[in-house]
Amino acid sequence: MKKIIKNGMIVTATDTYQADILIENEKVKAIGQGLSDVYAEVIDASGLYVFPGGIDPHTHMEMPFGGTVTKDDFETGTMAAAHGGTTTIIDFCLTEKGKTLKNALSTWHQKSKDKSVIDYGFHLQIVEANESVLEEIPVVIEEEGVTSFKVFMAYKNVLQADDETLYQTLTTAKKHGGLVMVHAENGDVIEHLTKEALRNGNTEPIYHALTRPPELEGEATGRAAKLTALADSQLYVVHVTCKEAVEQIAEARSKGFNVFGETCPQYLVLDQSYLDQPDFEGAKYVWSPPLRDKSNQEVLWNALKSGQLQTIGSDHCSFDFDGQKDLGKGDFTKIPNGGPFVEDRFSVLFSEGVKKGRISINQFVDMVSTQSAKLFGLFPRKGTIAPGADADIVLFDPNAERTISVDTHHSAVDYSALEGMKVTGEPVTVLSRGEYVVKDKEFVGKPGAGKFLKREKYNSDALQRQEETATGR
Ligand code: URP
Ligand code: ZN
Ligand code: ZN
Ligand code: ZN
Repeated sequence: MKKIIKNGMIVTATDTYQADILIENEKVKAIGQGLSDVYAEVIDASGLYVFPGGIDPHTHMEMPFGGTVTKDDFETGTMAAAHGGTTTIIDFCLTEKGKTLKNALSTWHQKSKDKSVIDYGFHLQIVEANESVLEEIPVVIEEEGVTSFKVFMAYKNVLQADDETLYQTLTTAKKHGGLVMVHAENGDVIEHLTKEALRNGNTEPIYHALTRPPELEGEATGRAAKLTALADSQLYVVHVTCKEAVEQIAEARSKGFNVFGETCPQYLVLDQSYLDQPDFEGAKYVWSPPLRDKSNQEVLWNALKSGQLQTIGSDHCSFDFDGQKDLGKGDFTKIPNGGPFVEDRFSVLFSEGVKKGRISINQFVDMVSTQSAKLFGLFPRKGTIAPGADADIVLFDPNAERTISVDTHHSAVDYSALEGMKVTGEPVTVLSRGEYVVKDKEFVGKPGAGKFLKREKYNSDALQRQEETATGR
């Protein structure tokens, strides 16, 4: 059915203005003053912001890790995302050595089909770059619309790839229009430091952080950036946590290289001391890279504001405290790595960023939606509110006050890493391609309603234009 959103304040990455939006056939049909249509349902958005739906470029749903599987699957995970104002996720599809890329994609299609309540795409992990994998990369770009490729520089003997694989992925992506993503930590040295810690009897959760120091994130980030420059390719660094890594990204960008960075809400509001809590509570905060010294929060905010970092991902990777995080009692290396943030990404950035005056409201939209659409081949179909775009829209009450808690969240996981945090601003109603997913804060969506998104190739021209218009960031 047609809908008209009336009286709301539309906010995009570039503009803030009052206008009505006519929605028809999943798309924004028109934007203007005093729109009317006798066949349309009218939604009154008085006093609300009207944002493009959030795009979370970094999730792990139903992902196997450390002998267990994340608690949220594509159904519970995307329901949580939708409640939080996110209408698109791009999830990481893991691959196995010796199997085809298409085989991995079909596994991820099985996990998501009939389950996702919002639209979704996949990034594809590259763990080894043999001839058949390198030949398959252009095929998945062309045929599957999977245009971004993830290389882990850490998790030795599990997910980690070597530098030769990273370099070959960069050159192949350059040739065929892919964007390479890295988890940048020096996995070899981390392996050494963790073994040493265990030998010394240091088994508590805090040693997860102490054996992955920021120098090792900075080193890997710089190495990946330099290999990108050598390959004349393009790189997106996921979950940037610290000054050491931000400096490497800023340096590469100042030289004109196509290096982009993401940070996550957890690194903006939590710090390393959370891992040091008694009774194994610290395990709730074990993910990689680890939480850092609090001084890094300011560095990350400044990097977001100045445009050295472009996006906010959640790195949603949820494990129950009881029964999953437990696996690492007495040995921190066995704590499954990850935390649940898909539901709070949007609100935390609004509350801590916009409400506290650290970023503008247009920068907020840019970071939680538009930039990811541009980098990952979804713009202008997604990431903005404009005629012809998908009607992925969030009606947001900027003054609602809420306390984040496991008691009220929609994720299936048994704790919140942000328990007790007060946030201002809350999504009220969320539309995915013109259909309600959340209506007046209640879930009304349908598992399977979300569609798989075939994405466009990496396009530096689109980004160039955007950088010119975004001066003033
Ligand atoms: O600890 C984390 N972040 N778990 C998910 C996998 C990853 O490294 O992104
Ligand atoms: Zn990672
Ligand atoms: Zn991740
Ligand atoms: Zn609800």
